[in-house]
Amino acid sequence: MNILTFKSQEDFAETGANLIVSLLQSNPRAVLGLATGSSPVTVYARLVEMHRKGLVSFAKASSYNLDEYVGLPVDHPQSYRSFMNEHLFNHVDIDLARTHVPDGNAPDLAAECLAYDRMLEDNGPVDLQILGIGSNGHIGFNEPDASLSSGTHVVDLLEETREANARFFDKLEDVPRQAVTMGIGGILKARQIVLLVRGEEKAEAVRNALEGPITTQCPASLLQSHPNVVVLLDEGAAKWLK
Ligand code: F6R
Repeated sequence: MNILTFKSQEDFAETGANLIVSLLQSNPRAVLGLATGSSPVTVYARLVEMHRKGLVSFAKASSYNLDEYVGLPVDHPQSYRSFMNEHLFNHVDIDLARTHVPDGNAPDLAAECLAYDRMLEDNGPVDLQILGIGSNGHIGFNEPDASLSSGTHVVDLLEETREANARFFDKLEDVPRQAVTMGIGGILKARQIVLLVRGEEKAEAVRNALEGPITTQCPASLLQSHPNVVVLLDEGAAKWLK
């Protein structure tokens, strides 16, 4: 595991963006695994800037997002499809038809999960998977539990996760109670994983994930079993690391 800590948010974003840019330069058809939330936004903003300067093209790339809320209309401003369009897809030359976000409104969610895994199986593996981490150690929406699912599945969001995400909604009741998420097995199939974490409120989760025991009670700790993980931290997030 390669752990890098940054004093400046600019350097954090630049380094994250450069990992994706280098990949696309060596493999324009790369398969990107993408996350939403506040952690990757500065990296996406930097990618948009670099695209505008002609430094990177996404024209032949494809993408798979980790997760999506269940029951939120796809054009709702807080749907993960809207997030991706707003922060990245609408501002770069990626072919929208090759961007994939699980459909949280599919009439048969179990079939949607199987179809998503089949697509990943057929078109994958993901070359570079971006991840954030929840304060409780979740990755994607794989919440701490006695056991974890391998494939894409529907998950009941923990109250702490709904409360953490309420900042994006008008009120807590508006935060969906379920999500579709790639499973841990699917995430770990990526060739490279880039975990992005900013802020002191994530410091304990970061320590548990990187230095604690591998346990389903901290899903991000399973990243310790992956051979190619890069972790980008700001000083707040790195605060409790030995
Ligand atoms: C989002 C996702 C989540 C977030 C995590 C951290 O697609 O998979 O695991 O990465 O909840 O969220 P932020 O970055 O908003 O703190």
